[in-house]
Amino acid sequence: MSTAKKKYKRVTVKSLVDMKQNGEKISMLTAYDYSMAKIIDSANVDVILVGDSASNVMAGHETTLPITLDQMIYHASSVIRAVERALVVVDIPFGSYQSDPKQALRSAIRIMKESGAHAVKLEGGIEIKESVKRILNAGIPVMGHLGLTPQSIYKFGTYTVRAKEEQEAEKLMKDAELLERLGCFSIVLEKIPATLTKKVSESISIPTIGIGGGKFADGQVLVIHDLLGMTHEFNPRFLRRYMNLYEEMGSAISQYVSDVKSMDFPSDEEQY
Ligand code: KIV
Repeated sequence: MSTAKKKYKRVTVKSLVDMKQNGEKISMLTAYDYSMAKIIDSANVDVILVGDSASNVMAGHETTLPITLDQMIYHASSVIRAVERALVVVDIPFGSYQSDPKQALRSAIRIMKESGAHAVKLEGGIEIKESVKRILNAGIPVMGHLGLTPQSIYKFGTYTVRAKEEQEAEKLMKDAELLERLGCFSIVLEKIPATLTKKVSESISIPTIGIGGGKFADGQVLVIHDLLGMTHEFNPRFLRRYMNLYEEMGSAISQYVSDVKSMDFPSDEEQY
């Protein structure tokens, strides 16, 4: 049994804060279905994020905006059924919390009740302060998300690095401190300069989880399809591919097609 598994039999929001205090980096990956979540959990990943990136990688949309609350709950409950160790965090999708804090709380409660998730994630800082407060008051743990927040892509206009200018960097810093004060247990920092990640991570006591935020974050997150090389047209600098499944799966499937056509499959041993 690995040390990670022995130390944290079940990862909780408190375990993550302990990891930061002990200088242990936090691993986080996305998952959207039962089979993938089972593999990820067995590999001792600390946090599984049911991200609204499901809108891109599972449903083929260009942005994360179209995915609905019902669809997120469906993905989250599939993941929850597979997981024994990881903390499962679920994105509240676009349009399910921006109207007002009551709507935000209703959405968070539906996610927790109907999927069995352990926490929710929302994008933004001061703009969503009241919603974060209300969700936390209901006893639901909240993970923040600052920097490049894909639900606001039409406001940004591009997926380029955020907070390079002083004014935006200062706002991000203030937002991170606010989210900590409100009681969030962690914050995702997406696509910001490594120096800013360092500054934020050193100034707050809750863990930061980076994606394109550099090595000074307290943990790292990637979309599982990108890590495995199942997506092949998405090539940001921050992405390390550990496999090239797009090609490997493609050639396995071509082999199957050829075996069926040539009547090599099924063989005598593969029938009843
Ligand atoms: O939806 C998602 O996958 C995310 C990660 C990029 C952090 O929010």
